[in-house]
Amino acid sequence: MGPGGAEALPLVRLMRGRIASTVQVKAVNSKVVALGIGSGPDGLEPGPGTADAAVRYGIDFAATAERTGFIGKAGETLVLELPELHLGASPWSGLAPTVLLVGTGGGGPADHRQAGAKLARVVRGKGQVAVGFGSESPRVTAALVEGYLLGAYQPVRYGLAAEGVGKKRRAQAKPAAPGQAQSTGDLALVGSHDRTAVVRAQIGAAATAFARDLVNWPSNLKTPASLADRAVAGAATRESVVARVMDPDELAARRLNATLAVGAATWQGPAADPAGAPRLVVVSHRPEGVKAAPHFVIVGKGITFDSGGLDLKPNSGLATMKTDMAGGAAALAAVLAAADLALPVRVTAVVPLAQNSVGAASYRPGDVIEIGAGTHGAGTLVEVGDTDAEGRLVLADALGYAVAEEEPDCLIDIATLTGAAKVALGNATGAVLTRDSTLAARIEEAGEEHGERWWRLPLAPDYGEALETPNAELGSIGQPGWGAGAITAGLFLERFAGGGRWAHLDIAGPARAGGGHDWSPPGGTGFGVRTLIALAERLA
Ligand code: BES
Ligand code: MN
Ligand code: ZN
Repeated sequence: MGPGGAEALPLVRLMRGRIASTVQVKAVNSKVVALGIGSGPDGLEPGPGTADAAVRYGIDFAATAERTGFIGKAGETLVLELPELHLGASPWSGLAPTVLLVGTGGGGPADHRQAGAKLARVVRGKGQVAVGFGSESPRVTAALVEGYLLGAYQPVRYGLAAEGVGKKRRAQAKPAAPGQAQSTGDLALVGSHDRTAVVRAQIGAAATAFARDLVNWPSNLKTPASLADRAVAGAATRESVVARVMDPDELAARRLNATLAVGAATWQGPAADPAGAPRLVVVSHRPEGVKAAPHFVIVGKGITFDSGGLDLKPNSGLATMKTDMAGGAAALAAVLAAADLALPVRVTAVVPLAQNSVGAASYRPGDVIEIGAGTHGAGTLVEVGDTDAEGRLVLADALGYAVAEEEPDCLIDIATLTGAAKVALGNATGAVLTRDSTLAARIEEAGEEHGERWWRLPLAPDYGEALETPNAELGSIGQPGWGAGAITAGLFLERFAGGGRWAHLDIAGPARAGGGHDWSPPGGTGFGVRTLIALAERLA
């Protein structure tokens, strides 16, 4: 991979000692030092490192900041480029010549995550930064590092590279040209930071970056085959992880009919492309030597491009639909992170992969598909209400597979499922649908720990009537007039979730950042990855 992406995340170094003795450029190898200033009831509250550094530099940083109107709000920054003296030596000669004051607000983890993310943006192109704040507690350290690494992420940039004379030019990641987007330097944490907290934050941020890379990957390159390859490659580098890819023949043998129907236009007919054919990927982390480890199964929607199918989307809706596999990416990333953390819990991702395209072989509105037949018993006959409601169909197959084959102790599905969830909750909140209040609370807590907000929508049984159809046992979409599109989608999925501990997460809003945030550039955000990891930790 070229510039940007998960491969290019900054390193984090721990430097014991007080900031005052390490701000020398020679000692810390950074030309930038970042100091924290919080806001308390009596105004600005410089952190301990800041007070130390003030003595060393001979500058009252808090008073200087106050003069500019700095109020210590989380993520606020003030860059001080210290002047070179005309004659003689300044008190700061030999010290880092750029001092960055960063607001840490009330001083909690969320404020430090925000501060870290903003810091990562402000120091782009400035090389390694020495940070003198945020060592109050392991949670604060973790949040600061998490924010910094999330904010440092930049998407892979593609360029056209000729592969030999006369060969087809192919889109490839290429090294950054001079003057192109500058990257964030490494992070040197000065003070007494908790190493375990740093490592956890690094693993969570790297997993998020991995998911972002998959989401940002263009759909001409991101086929069910190539996405499955990436899952297999991720498993190959981790001893505790095994991956299995089922091809269309195996899907047919297992009667995963809905996935085959959704992917039909890419798979069958005159325009058939073997790489575009649907697949089911199962990637599993099995902790070694842990008896009776609980099994956490995550089903993630993996639509590599959602055109809507014959119910074609309007152009405005199409533009972002390479991101319709964000749930699948989150599921895969969480399993790989569980392995990196060596969690004593089994974690399995089940990802149905298909492209929802238009063609002679497309499935149609009004088609009736048997879902959930598996190896034993009859399935449910489902009438396709709209070919653009493809996500719930592939998820129904995958949930049925998970229940029949994986014996989950906890089953979660995660998907960019409905525009309705995005309308209800916007771009920074995921929807939780479950009848299990304990599980809902755990999801909210897990998200809260990592800056991901979730909100519960009711899985109201009386809305189930909306899914009735005269033509089959179940309709795939709510009838007109019922509204509550995110809820009826959840009720549809519940029919295939097996009746055990289960929750559905709809990330149609937060999976993408349109304009970008401090913690994510525009494009895939990797939302949900860190919640899933934290949930796995809680199940262990
Ligand atoms: N992938 C979309 C949902 C989506 C919309 C995600 C916008 C992110 C942003 C999904 O497959 C879809 O098209 N859902 C339809 C369902 C409808 C036809 C019942 C929707 O929400 O409009
Ligand atoms: Mn769709
Ligand atoms: Zn979709």
